[in-house]
Amino acid sequence: MGSRTYNIITFGCQMNEHDSETISGMLSRLGYTEVPDREAADITVINTCSIRENADKRFFGTLGQLKKIKAVNPAQVTCVCGCMMQQEHVVREIKQSYPWVDIIFGTHNIHEFPQMLEELYRAREEEGRTEPLAGENMTPAEYNRAKHEIRSSRNTRVERIYEDSPEIVEGLPVNRKYRHKSFVNIMYGCNNFCTYCIVPYTRGREKSRHPEDILNEVRELACDGVREITLLGQNVNSYRGVSSETGRQWDFPELIYALDRIEGVDRIRFMTSHPKDLSDRLIKAFAECDSLCGYIHLPVQAGSSRVLKRMNRKYTREEYLELVRKLRDAVPGISISTDIIVGFPGESEEDFADTLSLAEEVRFDSAFTFLYSPRKGTPAAEMENQIPETVKHERFNRLVEVMNRCSSEKNAAYVGRVEKVLIEGEGREPGSLKGRTDSFKLVDFRGPADLIGEMVDVEIVDSNTFSLRGELK
Ligand code: SAH
Ligand code: SF4
Ligand code: F3S
Repeated sequence: MGSRTYNIITFGCQMNEHDSETISGMLSRLGYTEVPDREAADITVINTCSIRENADKRFFGTLGQLKKIKAVNPAQVTCVCGCMMQQEHVVREIKQSYPWVDIIFGTHNIHEFPQMLEELYRAREEEGRTEPLAGENMTPAEYNRAKHEIRSSRNTRVERIYEDSPEIVEGLPVNRKYRHKSFVNIMYGCNNFCTYCIVPYTRGREKSRHPEDILNEVRELACDGVREITLLGQNVNSYRGVSSETGRQWDFPELIYALDRIEGVDRIRFMTSHPKDLSDRLIKAFAECDSLCGYIHLPVQAGSSRVLKRMNRKYTREEYLELVRKLRDAVPGISISTDIIVGFPGESEEDFADTLSLAEEVRFDSAFTFLYSPRKGTPAAEMENQIPETVKHERFNRLVEVMNRCSSEKNAAYVGRVEKVLIEGEGREPGSLKGRTDSFKLVDFRGPADLIGEMVDVEIVDSNTFSLRGELK
């Protein structure tokens, strides 16, 4: 028999993608091999996201598909984890409607997954028995009860979910998806409680890793040939890591300066920074640290100060615009992307016009625009004056039009320039490659596959809304 196999389906943000890399690392260490084919896998893992209703729907759709596979291959182990599992109503629904799910765990105990698998296999082995171990002294009634118990425990389920965890588990194995770039978590959780957002409930309170743990990880990655690292956290600006050597607390700019000194790492990016505590020192770091890329994702969410207040974002439209000004002063040409929510409860036509005008004023390089989606348990879901779907869609379309026009114009300005591009993989067409500029623009160009992972000069010859086309120099 060949080695046992697994397949992981990941929904959601980079945080989840990175968690899946850890789950994959742990399964590899147990001797499992990843396969692309869900039907053939001995273990399937669905790592879920709960940020919007769509994400929830996609999860239940995928579970429905797995049910069919399970009907053919009942031995397959089905595991579900991630943000959705941190919500009681979701777990309740899984137990009710999908009782064949074998393992459920949350966002705080990924490290316990190997142990849970072992428990499941042990339970299954025991279940393999169809007869109770007939005790000499069993009465017929007791024997029948024991037999019934075996039958009713057929749906073995190992379930472990913690509300939060006080500590960070270090040293878990990671199977990196890319050779040349890597995610590095610097903190977990979120304390901000934006009124629309589920993340503080699914990821717990903020916890920062020790700076030494982060620096060592990045040094190892650099030795391994990684050229680009993306620091991950829900709000990296509130990083407060306590030094394991001196006990002193580091902040985010201090961490950036230390990482910038590591030999071999050409590019540092981070996601996500909250505008409310983007400090002048961090803006200065953009100008002073060579490896910090000229790109920032700075979610504004709305252009109306009234809406921002009700979202609990803790900055005004003017403060956001001031930040953009400062960033552009410090780093001319810095690329700025954002997230915007359309149709937050109570958003008036005038509020929405403020979002449109902010978009015009900032002229973002790119934007992720979302229809507001009520999340159970968040304050905004309970607010009066929820916006009808038709109005949300209509506003959404108007906003996307503005955003796309800005992106096209920003991209068009690259034509004729020569850009350093880190090649990420093969492009869409045969013989083409794709990579990213320092400013995070996607570039397609022709070139040999053995250049993947290299930093090359590319002349930009054409552009569209979402990407650039270039020629290898
Ligand atoms: N920590 C990050 C955001 C993570 S969630 C930050 O604060 O910037 C990614 C994006 O999803 C958010 O920026 C927001 O625009 C969007 N989002 C979050 N909750 C949402 C909801 N209930 N409906 C629609 N969009 C939402
Ligand atoms: Fe959600 Fe706000 Fe935290 Fe971002 S900062 S994860 S939007 S609560
Ligand atoms: Fe989704 Fe959880 Fe990320 S809700 S966006 S996977 S933190």
